[in-house]
Amino acid sequence: MLLTAHRGLSSLAPENTLASISKSKQLGIDWVEIDVQLSFDNVPVVFHDANLLRCCGVNKQVSQLSWDQLKYMDVGSWFRSEFVHESLPSLSQCLELCASLDLSLNLEIKHYQGRDLILLCERIAQCIEQHGFPASQLLFSSFSQQALQIMLERLPNVRRGLLCRRLPPDYLEQLKRCQAYSVHCHFQEISRLQVKHLKQNGYIVACFTPNNPQQVTHLRDWQVDVLITDCPQDFVTQWQL
Ligand code: G3P
Ligand code: MG
Repeated sequence: MLLTAHRGLSSLAPENTLASISKSKQLGIDWVEIDVQLSFDNVPVVFHDANLLRCCGVNKQVSQLSWDQLKYMDVGSWFRSEFVHESLPSLSQCLELCASLDLSLNLEIKHYQGRDLILLCERIAQCIEQHGFPASQLLFSSFSQQALQIMLERLPNVRRGLLCRRLPPDYLEQLKRCQAYSVHCHFQEISRLQVKHLKQNGYIVACFTPNNPQQVTHLRDWQVDVLITDCPQDFVTQWQL
């Protein structure tokens, strides 16, 4: 079973930061998941929420501020005061760090309402091309099936994972449409039969975001392939992965 550090290793460092990515490497976790969206001036930035309030204390939308404004945002001190110097990273900075640490990246394309999806995908694709980030170490995921279809056209060599809290009734059709490699479901919303069916159809099954290894031993028994978790270190020790 493969472990992916959710939003970087977000139980030990502030989520979606360079520190949380570095922490994954320090603890021997090879895959990190981060969330990407666009600034006002269309720079891909790594941040989860549409609004900056929770992690920066500023009640503004990410899409209202330029990269020059966002890059000074303190995204660390809400987590712990020692991270006060952690600033909101661009996708470019994260790609550079992952490449230098030889980390693999699950890049979640966050499409918030009212934003231009085609432009978001294009700016992400350009950034990846500029860095020459290897397709073999990259996986796109999104709740937006359309985002995955755009990426299939734009960067066909990069694998795609369809995100859904629970599987929709037509999940096989949806997965086929974006030629998905994997399906990523909430760990409490998937059944043993669904896991079996997905795997029989050749899909990798990922579950987000279980954080207590003792509560989800069934996922290991069902042969779920990937766990996207804030606490991969606990699974390593308790499940001896
Ligand atoms: O990729 C799994 C997970 O990150 C999806 O939910 O809200 O944490 O981005 P969220
Ligand atoms: Mg995410």
